[in-house]
Amino acid sequence: MAIRRLGDENTWVLETELTAYVLGVDKQGGLQHLYWGDRLPLDRDYPRPTLALFDSPFESPRSIVYEEYPAWGGIKFTEPCLKVCHADGVRTSALVYDFSEMSEGAIPELVIGLKDSQYGLVIRLHYKLYEEFDIIERYAEVANDGARAVIIEQILSAAWAFPKGTGYRLTYLAGRWGAETQVRRLSLEQGKFVLESRRGLTSPQVNPWFAIDGRERATEETGRVWYGALSWSGSWKIVVEQTSLGQLIVSGGINDFDFTWLLEPGEVFKTPVFVGGYTTGGFGAASRNMHGYQLKHVLPKAQGDGSRLRKVLFNSWEAVGFNVSTDSLATLAEKAASLGVELFVVDDGWFGSRNDDTAGLGDWRPSPRKFPNGLKPLIERVRDLGMEFGIWVEPEMVNPDSDLYRGHPDWVYNFPTMPRSQGRNQLVLNLSRNDVKEYIFHCLDRLLSDNDIAFVKWDANRHFSEPGWPESPEGREREVWVRHVLAVYDILDRLRQAHPQVAFESCSGGGGRVDLGILRRTDQVWPSDNTDPLDRLWIHEGFSYAYCPKVMSAWVTDSSRDCLAFGFHSAMAGSLGISANLNQWSPEELELARQKIAEYKEIRHIVQEGRLYRLTSPSGTGSNAGVSLSAVQYVSPDQDESVLFVFLLSRQFRTPIPRTMLRGLRPDCVYEVTGNGPHAEPVRLSGKALSSLGIEPALSASRDSLLVRIRRTDR
Ligand code: GLA
Repeated sequence: MAIRRLGDENTWVLETELTAYVLGVDKQGGLQHLYWGDRLPLDRDYPRPTLALFDSPFESPRSIVYEEYPAWGGIKFTEPCLKVCHADGVRTSALVYDFSEMSEGAIPELVIGLKDSQYGLVIRLHYKLYEEFDIIERYAEVANDGARAVIIEQILSAAWAFPKGTGYRLTYLAGRWGAETQVRRLSLEQGKFVLESRRGLTSPQVNPWFAIDGRERATEETGRVWYGALSWSGSWKIVVEQTSLGQLIVSGGINDFDFTWLLEPGEVFKTPVFVGGYTTGGFGAASRNMHGYQLKHVLPKAQGDGSRLRKVLFNSWEAVGFNVSTDSLATLAEKAASLGVELFVVDDGWFGSRNDDTAGLGDWRPSPRKFPNGLKPLIERVRDLGMEFGIWVEPEMVNPDSDLYRGHPDWVYNFPTMPRSQGRNQLVLNLSRNDVKEYIFHCLDRLLSDNDIAFVKWDANRHFSEPGWPESPEGREREVWVRHVLAVYDILDRLRQAHPQVAFESCSGGGGRVDLGILRRTDQVWPSDNTDPLDRLWIHEGFSYAYCPKVMSAWVTDSSRDCLAFGFHSAMAGSLGISANLNQWSPEELELARQKIAEYKEIRHIVQEGRLYRLTSPSGTGSNAGVSLSAVQYVSPDQDESVLFVFLLSRQFRTPIPRTMLRGLRPDCVYEVTGNGPHAEPVRLSGKALSSLGIEPALSASRDSLLVRIRRTDR
């Protein structure tokens, strides 16, 4: 049994294939976190709740144990998961154990009920086990069973606790626009380190993912790593707190900054999911578990088998910018189709009076000047060429210079007495208002109903300011941070239901909305507006810590023309696309593109659905002094096929290229290795040899790159 109670005690053990998570009720009725780590052989191995005194007038028995879901109240000062204000002004809570429910099945679930009887507040903590991936999903529901409204001031999804001690290290993904998902590491000391977005969207500054390793330090392949990610696409926070008593707690969820939620009697508030996992296989295993979990349990399945491989797309943005029209795109579409492109996406510029970023946003009708007969003639042309058609929208935003804003200046977030700050000349529509949400849903629904569209790129190119909702019901003004996200989710969910053939891509000026919440309803994400193939190696590496390559769109743009094979290989490590002015490409460049796209179609099932191994980091780990290279390998789930990308970033003094040791192959099977250099003969070696001795990548000059294929053979 994956979830069981120990004897008749109120202690529960949650076991996945390799890990265990234990929680239990102490003598005072408090719910304690007891253990998260390796699965242990005996029930008596697992700790039981205790309450002891610590010799200090400033602590309490409660403050020195780990509370499973700490609510603010009593002698406890760590980050609370819950802080409420009752109608009588009381602002603390006393939660005690109430009930538990266990359900087995494909995804075993435990629900623990806590209550504050004084005020009729009931908290249900949910735990869902993804045993095969050693992952637990946690979220909380708060129900107001009392007679008066409660104001929620802080409600996090979960707090994860770690074996008491010090010397831990935090890994996280940070950056900014154009430099997203850079891997950062920090040794933890007493204090709090907060990862967060207060921007209304997930943000490119920090991604809602974390990993913790112990004093002994994990590597790519070995060592204890605990990790987690939030399933939320608005303002969020993850607090990493090392206390004075050696506790380490990572709590996270919706950001409480400027947030309150009014919970009327009978209402329930549900937090987003906080996913957590533990492995002893280092950062590599942590990533592969996350990837497997996403492929099987997170990504939307509405398109039939749910494992449909992502199509090779062409996007107009880096080719023609806002200058889209049937004429300007017809030749590009022909060229793209001749290269093997499967999906032709018209980016910004097709609607309203949109000629640059100052006008038109919000008017989701084809520009009468650029598309006098609507989109149909272009769509038909694209379909005749054998491609699907996709389109860009930015539904949450509006330019003041638009018919929508002129008609409804009150439809944006605003404080009536304050200026409306513009970002990229635009304002944020108040989707917390039902009328605005319905209007946007119907615009998009009509667009997809009237046209043969197979793909939507959903963008969001500014963060929130002046988040006022002047018409809000009393006491609900500060709910906008959450209501907006729920409205986006609702629109996407309804569109997917009404148009199951349409795939969606999430974009926010690049990788500003990449998280498990949006990935439950979009098929891929745009990780960065930076398409430099070298910079992308770092962005892709960080991205791969948390998210699977299948969802990672990567385009070859004109910035790759001085190293086109390198550019293709860099982009083939995810879901391949092109966005470049193909009209200016030489016949040789077009031929190379044709070859690479054909090659990608042969390997994409391995890249998109295989297991990823970061062999050599572009940041240097694993390279020789004098040589900087990056290598990443993908192995098909049956271990019969693999593909290896190696990139030479720089080389001095003719330093020999270090060998690259492969991973994930069956040691006793024979594999044929091809593509290690333009003139290489295929070699046949055992999986063991490929991992112990590796191969010497045939690279010599910077920006050389290789796509090496490894296939199991009988001989
Ligand atoms: C954002 C996106 C780009 C492109 C432009 C269009 O910056 O990240 O890919 O769609 O908007 O304005």
